[in-house]
Amino acid sequence: MPALVLLGAQWGDEGKGKATDLLGGSVDYVVRYQGGNNAGHTVVVGDQKYALHLLPSGILSPGCTPVIGNGVVVDPAVLLSELSGLNERGVDTSKLLLSGNAHLITPYNITVDKVTERFLGKRKIGTTGRGIGPTYADKINRVGIRVQDLYDESILMQKVEAALDVKNQLLTKLYNRRAIEAGQVVEELLGYAEQIKGYVADTTLILNKALDDDKVVLFEGGQGTLLDIDHGTYPFVTSSNPTAGGACTGAGVGPTKINRVIGILKAYTTRVGAGPFPTELFDEDGEALRRIGGERGVTTGRDRRCGWFDALIARYATRVNGLTDFFLTKLDVLTGWEQIPVCVAYEIDGKRVEELPYSQSDFHHAKPVYETLPGWSEDITKAKSFSDLPKNAQAYVKALEEMSGAPISAIGVGPGRDETIEINSFLS
Ligand code: IMP
Repeated sequence: MPALVLLGAQWGDEGKGKATDLLGGSVDYVVRYQGGNNAGHTVVVGDQKYALHLLPSGILSPGCTPVIGNGVVVDPAVLLSELSGLNERGVDTSKLLLSGNAHLITPYNITVDKVTERFLGKRKIGTTGRGIGPTYADKINRVGIRVQDLYDESILMQKVEAALDVKNQLLTKLYNRRAIEAGQVVEELLGYAEQIKGYVADTTLILNKALDDDKVVLFEGGQGTLLDIDHGTYPFVTSSNPTAGGACTGAGVGPTKINRVIGILKAYTTRVGAGPFPTELFDEDGEALRRIGGERGVTTGRDRRCGWFDALIARYATRVNGLTDFFLTKLDVLTGWEQIPVCVAYEIDGKRVEELPYSQSDFHHAKPVYETLPGWSEDITKAKSFSDLPKNAQAYVKALEEMSGAPISAIGVGPGRDETIEINSFLS
């Protein structure tokens, strides 16, 4: 047993922290495999609430080794400030492992992210502005800076110069900005080198050995399936692969090692940033979901766009991730609605469609076809088992399960750590 992947089945912010809580002390390694400090996990331990952006949530469990895999992009300043913030609150962070192959988000990547968004104007992606996309672009263009480059000053200088070559032309000639000086960037990066050195490791080797030794390894996806660069609503996506395959490439572990892929699925839908969203609500129901669900970004503080549950998205997540289970979160937020619409199909140019369309234009034109399920008014936050739920809440969960194509193995019924109904154990 077991390597588990835990990932967002919608557009991110599904409440992954809940699932990590449920696995609690049973996990030996928690690995981030993609993304960077664009993610936001809120983890509650005792009466303490932690908002993590870059570090894997395992950093808060004493028995667990947190790992930042090769597929992650790392802003060293953010890494050090998240670590020192945790140290100040008494959290031991000394077990952290950081892949030497992970790419660094440099100051110029952040500048390029911001000026590009400004340049795009109305067509902007609505990025988090943390330099994520430009850093992955440098990686693919083979002008990226990796963690290991911090330990060879002359290589670092050559690489930074190469990376700035074209960027400075763009910055000065197109964006009307000042050129960035390679020497200054190198000096800043070298300032982080010694502080980070103790964490740098061959994480692929360590994780594969751990799996051979039957340790429990949890791969924690950032963002969500529909923000995936290949399988999401391109171009309104992030620049990495939050989908299950990303765990293999982003951590250096073969697909044959993965036993369980758990999709975190909110009982309704939210999205931040720009891009199509067929079930988005612009009325008081959308406002109520936002207010009751506390739908405001952990990383950016932006209000999330809210809408009803979309079964096509859930089915799609099952398909592209090979999901074995769902963890349904925030069911309690729906308490109080007399009727709850669920999107069961789209109408696209007069035709009924039951699978997520691959064509971007079709997705933009998709109109939701709703089926309405009866709601419930009873407080469900104290429910400990499925049978404790009101009949209509049970029927809502069962209907979602049937439409989504994988068993719902756990249900979040409130914000507290123990407000979860476990149906099938993720660790058996
Ligand atoms: P980027 O990842 O900063 O490049 O932003 C690209 C898109 O992904 C934007 O729409 C962001 O709002 C969205 N995004 C990035 N990270 C998250 C996340 O953790 N949750 C939800 N949306 C995210």
